[in-house]
Amino acid sequence: MSDVVLLERPAEGVGLIRINRPEARNALNLEVRRLLARHLTEMGEDAATRAIVLTGNDKSFAAGADIKEMADAGTVEMLARGVHRLWRTIGACPKPVIAAVNGYALGGGCELAMTCDIIIAGESAQFGQPEVRIGIIPGGGGTQRLTRAAGKYRAMKYVLTGELFGARAALEMGLASEVVPDAEVEKRAVELAARIAELPPLAVQLAKEAVLAGMEAPLSSALALEAKSVQILFSSQDQKEGMRAFIEKRKPKFSGR
Ligand code: CAA
Repeated sequence: MSDVVLLERPAEGVGLIRINRPEARNALNLEVRRLLARHLTEMGEDAATRAIVLTGNDKSFAAGADIKEMADAGTVEMLARGVHRLWRTIGACPKPVIAAVNGYALGGGCELAMTCDIIIAGESAQFGQPEVRIGIIPGGGGTQRLTRAAGKYRAMKYVLTGELFGARAALEMGLASEVVPDAEVEKRAVELAARIAELPPLAVQLAKEAVLAGMEAPLSSALALEAKSVQILFSSQDQKEGMRAFIEKRKPKFSGR
């Protein structure tokens, strides 16, 4: 059994996926990418998993694509590897995914964090899209997601120079959701995931969907999608339970239906 990706259950309803290639600063080789895609798909389908934490180790979340694995590849080989399809699968998880980032989140590692829904960064985390320095450009969404998060002029600076930036800069430019002391990154991510795991899963799923689909749509369409999503939730048992519990001043019991 491969141990380059480890699975844990740190709290009720929370699945934790840990990239485990410390000798390569958690570089994303094909095996890691395939396992990430598989585990996120399986957890997405598992009713007992309501929120997911994706993390690495204290030195590195992920230092990008595995440069040694791709240095000699040609175009046809890169096409055949289908990494773009794995990225799509990773981004298609219907449940909230929280990136717990310590150390380096570079290249594909920064892109992996940006594919998640919430980013908790340790104070000494280092982000960046350094691909231009090795003769390529970001290929897992970096040119697009960094631009959407930080705006054209900041994204251009980092994509064109390959310069790294710290956790505080990431927070200030809207890339990180929170910065916490390094030792508390995983604990904080699990705490947030556990809080989400207690909430009605259909509402959580539609909230994620509305935010993501809305980012790609004109405002009027995005607002229409949001309105429809709220209306749909009125046929869920959890909406009835949530509102009744509020009125009856008791804790709700959500069934996921
Ligand atoms: N791929 C393969 N191996 C990597 C790696 C990577 N992305 N990053 C680190 N490693 C390996 C190193 O080769 C080294 O292996 P050896 O011990 O066998 O020499 C080991 O991990 C430790 O690395 P360092 O000695 O360099 O550790 P450090 O702490 O001094 O530096 C680092 C850490 C700043 C992350 C540095 O390793 C680094 O710059 N890594 C490359 C970062 C990068 O360029 N990422 C972008 C990759 S391209 C990409 O992601 C493409 C895409 O989206 C399409």
